[in-house]
Amino acid sequence: MEKIRIWVRDFLIGLAKNFDSDRKGPVLRNTKQFLQAEVKIPIVLSMVFTFIIVYAMLIMDMGYTYRTFLAAGIMMLTISYVFIFETRKEQSLVSDNDAVVLMCLNLIIAVLFMQVSQHYISIFVFPVSAFVIMGVMLLAPRIGLCYAIILSLLAGFISDMRFDVFMILLGSATVVLSRARKIRNRWDFVKTGLLVTIANIIIISMFYLLTFYSFGQYEKNLYYGLLNGLFMIIILLVILPIFERIFSRTTNIKLIELADFNNHLLKRLMLEAPGTYHHSILTASIAEQAAEAIGENPILARVASYYHDIGKLNNPEYFIENQGTTVNPHNDLSPAMSTLILTSHIKDGAALAKQYNLDNDIISCIVQHHGTTVMSSFYNKARSVNGGEEELNSNDFRYPGPKPQSKIAAIIMIADSCEAACRTIDEPTDAKISEMVNRVVDLKMKDEQFSECPITFKELELVKESLMSALLRMYHSRIKYQETYEQPK
Ligand SMILES: [Fe+2]
Ligand SMILES: [Fe+2]
Repeated sequence: MEKIRIWVRDFLIGLAKNFDSDRKGPVLRNTKQFLQAEVKIPIVLSMVFTFIIVYAMLIMDMGYTYRTFLAAGIMMLTISYVFIFETRKEQSLVSDNDAVVLMCLNLIIAVLFMQVSQHYISIFVFPVSAFVIMGVMLLAPRIGLCYAIILSLLAGFISDMRFDVFMILLGSATVVLSRARKIRNRWDFVKTGLLVTIANIIIISMFYLLTFYSFGQYEKNLYYGLLNGLFMIIILLVILPIFERIFSRTTNIKLIELADFNNHLLKRLMLEAPGTYHHSILTASIAEQAAEAIGENPILARVASYYHDIGKLNNPEYFIENQGTTVNPHNDLSPAMSTLILTSHIKDGAALAKQYNLDNDIISCIVQHHGTTVMSSFYNKARSVNGGEEELNSNDFRYPGPKPQSKIAAIIMIADSCEAACRTIDEPTDAKISEMVNRVVDLKMKDEQFSECPITFKELELVKESLMSALLRMYHSRIKYQETYEQPK
C-alpha cells in the first residue's frame, strides 16, 4: 500500500512539473492572465485522458457487465483508429499541444451533449453539426470529417445500434462540412442551422417512408430535427467564441472583426503612421488575391497584412513611407544603428500584437514577413562608408527571422516587398512592374527565404502572376485618375 502511495505521489509531482515546464513569465494573478497563459498539456496525456473519459461515459450508459466492457472497448478502439489515422495527416496540428487539447476537449464535450440529449430529450436533438463546424473552423476540415464519422458512430452505438440514428446524424454532419469554411459572420450560423434542419427533415422522412417509424414517432422526430438545428446555433454562439479565445484559434468570424478599421490598433496606425497604414492596405489588397490564387485563406492574408507592420508604431518617423518631406533621421545614424532600429519593428510588432490579443496566425506573419533577408540599403551604405575596403558580414544586416513557415507568411513577404518596390518605379508600365515582381521573388528564392515553408514552385508562379495583375490594375487605375484631373494645356 505504501508503495502505491509513493508511486501516486511521484506520478502527480511529475505531472505537475510537466504542466509547469513551459511556463515562463510572471505569476498569474487574474482570469485574463490565466486565459492568455501558455499551459502546455502533453499530447499523449490529452489522448489517454480523452480515451478514458469517453470509454467511462459509454460504460456508464450501457451498464457494468463484461459484455459492455468488451463491446465499448471495441468501439473505442475503432474510433481511436479513425481519429489517430486521420489526424496523423495534419502534421501541423498533431505537433501543436493546444490544438490536440482542443481536439480532445471538443470530443469530450460532444459526447457529454450526446449523453444529455439521449437521456433527457432524444438522441435526435444531439447537435453533431455544431461540433463538426467547430472542428473545421478551429482545426481543419479533416478533423471535422473525423468528428462527423466518430460522433455519428457513437450515437448509433449508445442508442442500441440504431441505423436511423447513425444516418440522420451523419447526414446533418456532412451537409455542414463544405459550408463550415465559408462561415464569415454569426448570421451564417442561422443559415447553416436552417440547412441542418432541412437535411434532418428529409432524412427522417426517408426513414418514415421505409416504415421505420409510426406517424406519431415521425411527427416527434421532425420536432426533434428542428430542435437539432436550433441547438446547433446556440452551441456555436456560446462555445465557439470561448474556444477561439482560450486556444487563440483563428476563425473567419474573428478575422473579419479584426479587419474593422475602428479597431484601436488600426486607428493608431492610421493616425500615427499614415504611410505605413497606406502601405499595409495596398499589401493586404494584393496579398488577398494571391492567397485566393493558390487556395489559401484570403481573409487571413488580408487581415495579417493590415497588421504586419504595426511594430513601426514605436518609431514611425524612421520608416521611409512616413517621412514625406521631413529630413531622413538615418542621415545622422550609423548603418548599424539604423539596422537595429528598423529590425526592431518585428519584435515590437509581436509585443503589440500580444498586448492587443491578436491571434497566433497573425503574430506569425508579423515575425516572419521579412524572414532573414538582408537590409541591403544599410549594408551597402556601411560598405561605402568603409570605402569598400573592410570586409563586412552581411549577416549583421539581416532581419532576425524566422523565415516564413506558412504559405500565407510567404505570400505576405512577397506582397510586402513587391508593393514597396513598385512604388520606386518612376513611370510604371506593364513591363517594368512584371520585371520588378520577378526580380523580388527571384532574390528571395536565391536567398532561400522559402526553404522552411511548404510553398511549391508552381504556387510561387501563381502568386507572381496574381501580384503582377493586381499591381498592374492598381497602377493603371492611378494613371487614369491622374489623366482625369490633368489641367488642359
Ligand atoms: Fe515590415
Ligand atoms: Fe511592410
